[in-house]
Amino acid sequence: MPEKKILITGASRGLGLAISNALSKEYTLILHATRKESFTNVDPKHHLLCADLSDPTQLNEFCKRLKKEHGDTLYGVINNAGITFDKSLIYQPENEIDKLLQVNLKAPIMICKAVMKQFLLNKRGVIINVSSCVGETGNAFQAVYSATKAGLAALSKSLAREVSALSEEHAIRILSIAPGFIETEMTDTVPEKFRQEYLKAIPANRFGNVNEVADVVAFLLSDKASYINGTNININGGIL
Ligand SMILES: NC(=O)c1ccc[n+]([C@@H]2O[C@H](COP(=O)([O-])OP(=O)(O)OC[C@H]3O[C@@H](n4cnc5c(N)ncnc54)[C@H](OP(=O)(O)O)[C@@H]3O)[C@@H](O)[C@H]2O)c1
Repeated sequence: MPEKKILITGASRGLGLAISNALSKEYTLILHATRKESFTNVDPKHHLLCADLSDPTQLNEFCKRLKKEHGDTLYGVINNAGITFDKSLIYQPENEIDKLLQVNLKAPIMICKAVMKQFLLNKRGVIINVSSCVGETGNAFQAVYSATKAGLAALSKSLAREVSALSEEHAIRILSIAPGFIETEMTDTVPEKFRQEYLKAIPANRFGNVNEVADVVAFLLSDKASYINGTNININGGIL
């Protein structure tokens, strides 16, 4: 069986680290974070490809290297790296808005663009974009973040349709996942008052843990999910 390489962005901690642990045995991984020093204990069978995706030059270089060094053996992409700056839009500086758009939306778009042609030639490949429940519900003090996450769901659905327009027979799937409130460094900083508010809205009566998302990603990447395409999969304990 040919080697299956999977790129995971934001793989140094939180959801990305859990996803890389879940995939580590079965696949060869290309692990991304802002810099090499973000990682500890990387299995030598995997690759590191780092870039600060808020920097357009580094994003460009990252996409070039991804294509050149791994293009023909790349099987999957998990666009997971993401940032948030929670505050009212009224007080959000433009440089934060630009950074949110660049890291959370432009970078996944450019990474999809970088791999799509080869996926079409190979007639196989899976892209999973990490959206969020707030992409559907919206969230106060996360207007731009939520907009980027809605964008990822729309991007995934559109690209799935685009692949079908470009190729009759193929095994390419493009989808997004929408986690709810998952315990990571990103959610550590949410003030207790808001945590309690969020908790009230979760029928599971608890926040999620990273492995509950990673296991779904492993399933979606596998052939067992071969008919799941062009959709947004909720992993949120039942948040409405
Ligand atoms: N946690 C949740 O409740 C939740 C819910 C829904 C969706 N999500 C989404 O899930 C994804 C992962 O979230 P998380 O909670 O695991 O986040 P996290 O713990 O804060 O980890 C963020 C990851 O993204 C990387 N990253 C940060 N800034 C970057 C930049 N400028 N350029 C490139 N990479 C950058 C980090 O690398 P370094 O270590 O090098 O900084 C790290 O690997 C995000 O897209 C987030 O929006 C999370």
